[in-house]
Amino acid sequence: MHHPTLCAVAVGILSALPGAQAGLYTKKSPVLQVDAKDYDRLIVKSNHTSIVEFYAPWCGHCQNLKPAYEKAAKNLEGLAKVAAVNCDEDPNKQFCGTMGVQGFPTLKIVRPKKGGGRPMVEDYQGQRTASAIVEAVVSKIPNNVVKIEDKSLDKFLSDKNETAKAILFTEKGTTSALMKALAIDFLDIITIGQARNKEAKTVETFGVQKFPTLILLPGGDSPRIVYDGEIKKEAMVKFLSQAGEPNPDPAPLKSKPKSKEDKKEKKEKKASSSKTKTSASETSSATSEPEPETKTQQAPVIVETALPIPTINTREKLIKECLTDKSHTCVLAFVSSPDDDAAKKALEGLSSLAFKHSQSKRHLFPFYEVPKSNEGASSLLKALDLSGDIEIIAINARRGWWRHYQGADFSHASLESWIDAIRMSEGVKKKLPEGIVAISVEEKTAEATPEASSEATPDATTSASSENATPVTPEASSGDASVSAESTSTKGADPTVEPETAAETPIIHEEL
Ligand SMILES: *[C@@H]1O[C@H](CO)[C@@H](O)[C@H](O)[C@H]1NC(C)=O
Ligand SMILES: *[C@@H]1O[C@H](CO)[C@@H](O)[C@H](O)[C@H]1NC(C)=O
Repeated sequence: MHHPTLCAVAVGILSALPGAQAGLYTKKSPVLQVDAKDYDRLIVKSNHTSIVEFYAPWCGHCQNLKPAYEKAAKNLEGLAKVAAVNCDEDPNKQFCGTMGVQGFPTLKIVRPKKGGGRPMVEDYQGQRTASAIVEAVVSKIPNNVVKIEDKSLDKFLSDKNETAKAILFTEKGTTSALMKALAIDFLDIITIGQARNKEAKTVETFGVQKFPTLILLPGGDSPRIVYDGEIKKEAMVKFLSQAGEPNPDPAPLKSKPKSKEDKKEKKEKKASSSKTKTSASETSSATSEPEPETKTQQAPVIVETALPIPTINTREKLIKECLTDKSHTCVLAFVSSPDDDAAKKALEGLSSLAFKHSQSKRHLFPFYEVPKSNEGASSLLKALDLSGDIEIIAINARRGWWRHYQGADFSHASLESWIDAIRMSEGVKKKLPEGIVAISVEEKTAEATPEASSEATPDATTSASSENATPVTPEASSGDASVSAESTSTKGADPTVEPETAAETPIIHEEL
């Protein structure tokens, strides 16, 4: 494992620097901003695992980390805390020093001790990609979920008999991050257990027919309640809350808006929770901690904890994954700014689709996010005559076709029907223009054919045309006069870009 690069500035020198700059993370960021005086309350006293970044706003490596860190934060929402301390701010300088911070960014994982006491703190030295960070943090989430076997069922049920209990029935032998997080939220309030489908007696006792199934035993004479909502943290917290309020620190969410609409929503939630059965559309809005964007009842059904789709940051990678004469179907989402609302919606839609397919073990072609700033992206888009802020295509370089996602509706349903059409080989395939596909062996020594982009007007044929595999890097179509010179000068790996290698295989941690 390579050691991450640091902005090698001793913290002591900081005091000599001029006034602090604004922090790297905005108020809207999913990263929890912590300062010296909040650290104890938000991180040390939390029952949840945290990762804390100690940074300085002027540090280039910190700035580079920001997108991946925010991505990780988004994906760990409700599972663990992702926090940042701006060590450049006067009140934090000494604190960062006492935390042993010697360079920026320094990442530390803070893991609560079972039964209380000071948490364990260790440096995170892994790759600075969203998925590597998510994986490392998830592996540090304490497991308070009780394993239930036929022979231990009675004990589980009679132990602390006045405490509410919940049992997850699952085909899995492992405990998911989501269940671990729920068990932490309800520590000492609901005892959460997990039973495998092969525990026949337990399964029969509760009449479980399908997996996963979550059953709440509120305690006393209250009848058991079967969960019927989405596999989504907030909806599940709400469900379990019927048996008792979660601990005060359920999720690293930002300040809760207290608007009229939220109150109205609360009322609605109350009304709907009385009938314990919640439909998918209800649960998607019935969050225990309402966020502005989940206000409408028609909110798309997005699995919030699905990992982001991997990002292709370099031209080389784009070619390698999707543009050689051996490349199978890829879905590429080109976005100018991933934080833009429409882009977010599109990317989340794709990641939840990928998640859904992986959950049902169906094979699906890979989805990638490609920043439009990626040089390979801009020339490919130009060749395909696409110029929107968000463009989604499916491309099969081996067979020489591509498809364009039409319209500006990036709803989950609309993306899904488009993906399904591709899976079923329905709908219009366009022929890839000449010069897009690189011959895999020779891609590095490729020579440009200047006519590549200008001629190619995609038509609606489906003919496979891997023979048009003139070995051209996508730069060839960028329209620059100096195409061939450019393709030689940039063919090496770009040292300024950190490829998200680890992010290529999304880890799915929210399965039950
Ligand atoms: C709970 O357990 C205690 C002893 O551990 C027992 O006296 C009591 O009757 C039990 N209550 C119920 C409802 O089973
Ligand atoms: C942590 O868990 C304990 C139960 O073990 C609970 O009493 C406490 O309120 C929790 N703390 C927070 C901050 O949630």
